[in-house]
Parts: sequence; structure tokens; C-alpha cells
Amino acid sequence: MTARLVVLVSGSGTNLQAILDAAADPSYGARVVAVGADRDDIEGLRRAERAGIPTFVAKVGDHTSREYWDRALADKVGAFEPDLVVLAGFMKLVGDKFLARFGGVTLNTHPALSPSFPGMHGPRDALEYGVKVTGATLFVVDAGVDTGAIVAQAVVPVEDDDSVETLHERIKVAERAMLVESVGRMAREGFAVDGRRVRLGG
Ligand code: GAR
Repeated sequence: MTARLVVLVSGSGTNLQAILDAAADPSYGARVVAVGADRDDIEGLRRAERAGIPTFVAKVGDHTSREYWDRALADKVGAFEPDLVVLAGFMKLVGDKFLARFGGVTLNTHPALSPSFPGMHGPRDALEYGVKVTGATLFVVDAGVDTGAIVAQAVVPVEDDDSVETLHERIKVAERAMLVESVGRMAREGFAVDGRRVRLGG
């Protein structure tokens, strides 16, 4: 059975594109059934439109509270009956209502090696700290900020002349490969979350 993915984006959507490209091969085991965003007019949504995939937008500002937005987002995602929800550069924290429905099957990718440098500025914070390696982390979303159980990590060296931009771009190359590989395996082989440990395969 091909797993149904809903992907949420806030920006350029290169991680989304990597999944779309992989999923063009039916043997990948997963297909993107919808792409959602928290803002309009972004390249991530245009990538979905070019691929002929339905899109939706749920903006925080269109709702009277964060909680109503969270519920509306969950409803929009739920309409596509996903097996997995992938946050791919989605710059909002999902809340209780969302996690009540999709907790355990929502993945997020973060541009740092958790538990280091959580939050919105993983590459900048790693560079400022002076670490020599950083990377990307795929995790099962929980109520914290980038704290969920880890599915996969990819290590990336920090170069002496890196800027935030060059470092983030190098991270994103490794991140896309990790995301495609892990989501495909989770779709094809299944996975189990046991406390903080995530095991791929039956
Ligand atoms: C990715 O590096 C992703 O890890 C990061 O945004 C980038 C999105 O790139 N997400 C976060 O920092 C979430 N806190 P993309 O839009 O080209 O896929």
C-alpha cells in the first residue's frame, strides 16, 4: 500500500521537492496527496501546483486564536487522510489539537543535530557556538520545540569560512537525502516509537 503524505511548508520547499521527485517512482512507497502552508505566495506551494498536487493555506492571522488556527490546520490536513504528515520547513509549532490527531505520525526536519540548537535558527546558532560539525535531524513531533524522538540524523562539517547561508545550504543537501531515505523507509517498512527510540521496520 502506498502511504499518503501531507507535507506542510513555509518557504522555498526544496525538501518538499526532494520528496516529490522520489515519490514519482511508485516503488518509493509514498505519495504526496496535499501540500499545506501557513502563508501564501511561497515557492513551496508553487512546487506543489506544478506537480498537480492540491494545496491549502491556514494562516494564524485568519483565526481568532492560535488554538482555533491549530484546529483548522488539523481539519485541513485531516481532509486528505494522511498516513504521515511531514513538516518540511514549516515555521510554526503545531499545538495540542493537531497532535491529538496526528501525534506519532507527524515528522519534522530540523537543520541542526538535536538536542543542540533547537528553534528557528539552527545553522546560525551552530556557527555562533563554534561547533565543528552540525547537521540535520528528523524527528517525530511532540509538544516541545524540536524535542521529539529522533528518526535519523545527518552530520555536516562546519567550514572555517562558512556563513550562515553556506552552512545552511550544505546542511540542506544532507537533510534532503536523509528525509527522502527515512520517509521512504517509514512508508515501506513501518516504524515503531518506543519512548525516545524510533525503530524502522516491523
Ligand atoms: C530546512 O533546512 C528545514 O530544516 C528548516 O527550514 C529549511 C526549509 O528549507 N526548518 C526549520 O528551521 C524549522 N524550525 P526548504 O523550504 O527549502 O525545504
